[in-house]
Amino acid sequence: MSIYGEYVVPRILNAACGMKMTVPLRRRVCAGLRGEVIEIGFGTGHNVAHYPGTVTGVAAIEPSDVGWRMAAERVRAATVPVRRSGLDGQSLPFADDSFDSALSTWTLCTIPDADAALREVRRVLKPGGTLHFIEHGLAPKEDENVRRWQRRLEPLNKRLLGGCHLTRQAVDMLTTAGFTVTEVDTFYEEGAPRPLGADTLGVAVSP
Ligand SMILES: C[S@@+](CC[C@H](N)C(=O)[O-])C[C@H]1O[C@@H](n2cnc3c(N)ncnc32)[C@H](O)[C@@H]1O
Repeated sequence: MSIYGEYVVPRILNAACGMKMTVPLRRRVCAGLRGEVIEIGFGTGHNVAHYPGTVTGVAAIEPSDVGWRMAAERVRAATVPVRRSGLDGQSLPFADDSFDSALSTWTLCTIPDADAALREVRRVLKPGGTLHFIEHGLAPKEDENVRRWQRRLEPLNKRLLGGCHLTRQAVDMLTTAGFTVTEVDTFYEEGAPRPLGADTLGVAVSP
């Protein structure tokens, strides 16, 4: 990996993901998590402060050593054990049916084979386990102008931000992976340019 990818990208992502306006969204998406949780694309730990009291432990999956080091203070302050337990959401080192809940925040945009990652999350979730997600992706179909900009900007965005796509569709990917999406809300993030901030927040249940 380039020096830019290894050292600069995690710092940019830490700043972008740490913006104040993400706080209420993180609180919302974490509500209802329970038991043993797997969090894919843990990043620098911005969700830790929002895990509800029903969570007993978190297995963090994060490839970036720099990102994990930057998360140290948040991990230390956690009220439940948070362990870095894997490096790649596409291949999870756990037995089937290991977790009660899963969490993915702005991560499916970046994992190279996000469909494979969702199949893995589904495999390690217990039947009836829930995946809580907030992802940015393709704007609603009535906003064709935004979609056009997303297609134009995507190659540059991927190069600058560690492979981050702008046109993925989380709900479609979840459904393809066999989840049932039971709650979903789509909106533009306040203060973010629309091509970068077309969000989908919700809960998907593993069969
Ligand atoms: C935009 S950041 C989001 C970080 C964090 N979820 C948050 O909300 O602050 C995307 C994260 O996905 C991670 N990532 C990239 N490839 C991955 C993979 N194959 N498996 C798991 N995580 C991955 C990146 O290192 C980065 O931390």
